[in-house]
Amino acid sequence: MSTGVATFIAIDGPVGSGKTAAGRMLAARLGHMFLDTGVMYRAITYLALQKNLSLGDAQVLTQLASKVQMELVGDPGEECRVIVNAGDVTHNLRSPEVERSVSAVSAVPGVRKVLVRLQQEAAAKGQIVMVGRDIGTVVMSGAGLKIYLDASVEVRARRRHDQLLESGAEIAYETVLKDLRRRDELDSTRDVAPLKPAGDAVILTTDDLGLEGVVDRLESLARGVPQKGDN
Ligand code: DC
Repeated sequence: MSTGVATFIAIDGPVGSGKTAAGRMLAARLGHMFLDTGVMYRAITYLALQKNLSLGDAQVLTQLASKVQMELVGDPGEECRVIVNAGDVTHNLRSPEVERSVSAVSAVPGVRKVLVRLQQEAAAKGQIVMVGRDIGTVVMSGAGLKIYLDASVEVRARRRHDQLLESGAEIAYETVLKDLRRRDELDSTRDVAPLKPAGDAVILTTDDLGLEGVVDRLESLARGVPQKGDN
């Protein structure tokens, strides 16, 4: 059993599994860099919408991704800001329009190729917690620790609904649930890098765990602390 802290930590999971909040807190506790790869797909989607590009045109979207200058700025434990072509787009990435269109953009193989390369360049700088859908299977397939965070779709919808209400949105729980089901389906059935746990991932179901509980468990795994059930 290794007792060193894992250098490369991949966290994947579906929408609302808590991976971004947990990953950010884990990175802060370990002093690792943190990269939420979802914001990169969101940034390309935002740009495409802004430029009125056809979301069905894979070639045009690939061209857009290849030309973009993207910079992610942030300290461990903080939400990173996304700078695209010298403009800060961080606050535009969670709009309903981006939310609706990002699954289509992230299914384009050429877009994924460009962003995966940028993510691998970030990983090459050293200790990092990276969060997404294909981090353990594609981007950091050699990571020392791979986590797949999961929760039932009802629990995830409840969490997302609470967040939306807190931010002042008026939306029915059933609408959020329906949207999550749609996005789960799109993310896990696309041809390129579909959402699925890596064969060597630790699968952690968070239905009955609070955020702190999840992060405690992740930190123990990252530090190589033996887990209940280990031999
Ligand atoms: O994690 P998120 O909701 O911010 O991700 C936004 C979208 O990007 C989601 O539809 C899945 C996609 N995504 C992906 O395909 N691969 C990643 N590594 C991260 C996100």
